Amino acid sequence: MAKKIGIFYGSDTGHTEEVANLMKELLGDDLADVFDVRNVEDASVLLNYDLVLLGTSTWYLGELQGDMDAFKDKLEELDLTGRTIALFGLGDQVEYSDYYVDGMGHLYHLLLKKGVKFIGAWPTEGYDFNSNLALMEGDSSKFAGLALDEDNQPDMTPERVAIWLEQVKAEAGIA
Ligand SMILES: Cc1cc2nc3c(=O)[nH]c(=O)nc-3n(C[C@H](O)[C@H](O)[C@H](O)COP(=O)(O)O)c2cc1C
Repeated sequence: MAKKIGIFYGSDTGHTEEVANLMKELLGDDLADVFDVRNVEDASVLLNYDLVLLGTSTWYLGELQGDMDAFKDKLEELDLTGRTIALFGLGDQVEYSDYYVDGMGHLYHLLLKKGVKFIGAWPTEGYDFNSNLALMEGDSSKFAGLALDEDNQPDMTPERVAIWLEQVKAEAGIA
């Protein structure tokens, strides 16, 4: 039987990769698989999962991480109408305040157009930044997904991830 949760990520220096692996560890091998999108030729593998966690870092002033940028072109080809996706994004809110987790924002706006059902919105409280691309449409008090900052708030990551996973499982109706 297909597993329930597919974690797909793009990462340059390993931060997003570590978070994706932590998520798989917390969810357990029976429930979750993890994929580095640089190795995913056929993006339709994503359709095997009830819930997709899609994670990216941001590079070069608001750009998607390189592998995720290529993967998003493959996502464009898929019918994702009604699919449940939770986003997570890594960035640096101090050095890149004007572009903080914009990569997650690019994925959000692309997938909004494709009729995806988003879960896992996350409060902006506890962050200090000036960007708005990754904020939820209609509710700017929340990011569209989980925002993390390994450069400035690494100690907060494990707890944020643990709370968020419980939230997305509840929202997706996964025990
Ligand atoms: C040259 C450079 C550009 C960056 N640009 C951004 C940016 O525009 N927005 C942001 O939030 N973070 C930016 N970052 C921070 C990274 O997204 C952050 O370090 C992240 O944890 C890297 O994750 P990865 O190792 O999975 O790629 C940048 C970092 C570097 C070194």
